[in-house]
Amino acid sequence: MSIQKKEDHIQICLDPASQIGSAGWERYRFVHQAMPDVSFAEIDTSCEFLGKPCSIPLMISGMTGGSETAAMINQHIALACETARIPFGVGSMRIALEHPETASSFQVRPYAPNVPILANLGLVQLNYGFGLDECKRAVELLEADALMFHLNPILEAISQDGNTDFTGLMPKLEKIIRHLGVPVLVKEVGFGISAKVAQELRDVGVRTIDVAGWGGTNWAFVEGRRTGNSLGSVFSSWGIPTSDAVRDCSKISGLSVIAGGGMRTGVDMAKAMALGASLSSIAQPALAAALQSPEAVLAVIDRYLGELKTTMFAVGAGTLKALQAASIEVRE
Ligand SMILES: Cc1cc2nc3c(=O)[nH]c(=O)nc-3n(C[C@H](O)[C@H](O)[C@H](O)COP(=O)(O)O)c2cc1C
Repeated sequence: MSIQKKEDHIQICLDPASQIGSAGWERYRFVHQAMPDVSFAEIDTSCEFLGKPCSIPLMISGMTGGSETAAMINQHIALACETARIPFGVGSMRIALEHPETASSFQVRPYAPNVPILANLGLVQLNYGFGLDECKRAVELLEADALMFHLNPILEAISQDGNTDFTGLMPKLEKIIRHLGVPVLVKEVGFGISAKVAQELRDVGVRTIDVAGWGGTNWAFVEGRRTGNSLGSVFSSWGIPTSDAVRDCSKISGLSVIAGGGMRTGVDMAKAMALGASLSSIAQPALAAALQSPEAVLAVIDRYLGELKTTMFAVGAGTLKALQAASIEVRE
């Protein structure tokens, strides 16, 4: 992937038109507790992710790397995540492996020494020359706690130079899981993961997925606009809304689910947890802030935290465990 393509993605994602539909959280409603037996000041949002303590069940999801702008974005997000004590994933590191001179734009560990950091590669690259060595290099380069593979068949189909051979990836993924030495997670990029695929991923050893569902950043629209391919507009309505993916995938035992894709408030986060998610992730909502400063990214994180805590207060949940047990209704 070229540096120009990455820059184009950033610019197009900054346009509100790149945000299409709804993740479906408006279909769910908590039962309001007029007498919550909770002190707001004592609400505890702490959790653990990849063996490290985190203060909020929120992660900033993989976006970029490769260019000078991308380096700045990654640095600002990393500094904010370290201050807020939340996990952070970089964007696809294929460019860093193919063009080592761009690798420094991903190296955020000095800015975020204590929080989980996730390396990122497209799973399909395992059919295009990448193997265990490349995965190890990506993890080492970042001093990452885990490797996040992304699945993006629609995006690749819309790209002019897309990598569209998705055959036989499961056994290759299984081999990486066995030998990498750090946990391997899998995400989509905005079209969602079905229960069937989630089950298959779990069966080869994946323990955590980010469903990255439909209803937020729309990669059919983004890639369609970038390439002029009319598939973009046709497939902008394609995908599994995040709330549906979270509901279905959370039923699979032995699998932790991250609710990503169109998570736009802390209320969405709370609803996702009540449906079984262990964490939420955001990408585009942090993008404009990441171009400004670490403080601007922190303000975004703080907004989500304030909304999450207020929701927990109003449902009488003093801890995330209590929130996960809170009763939630589907609106007719
Ligand atoms: C500018 C931008 C670049 C992205 N690049 C990547 C990437 O390189 N790898 C990846 O796994 N996901 C990438 N994504 C997808 C996000 O990680 C996320 O799954 C998706 O945007 C849905 O979240 P959102 O609706 O909060 O933006 C990117 C998203 C944005 C906004």
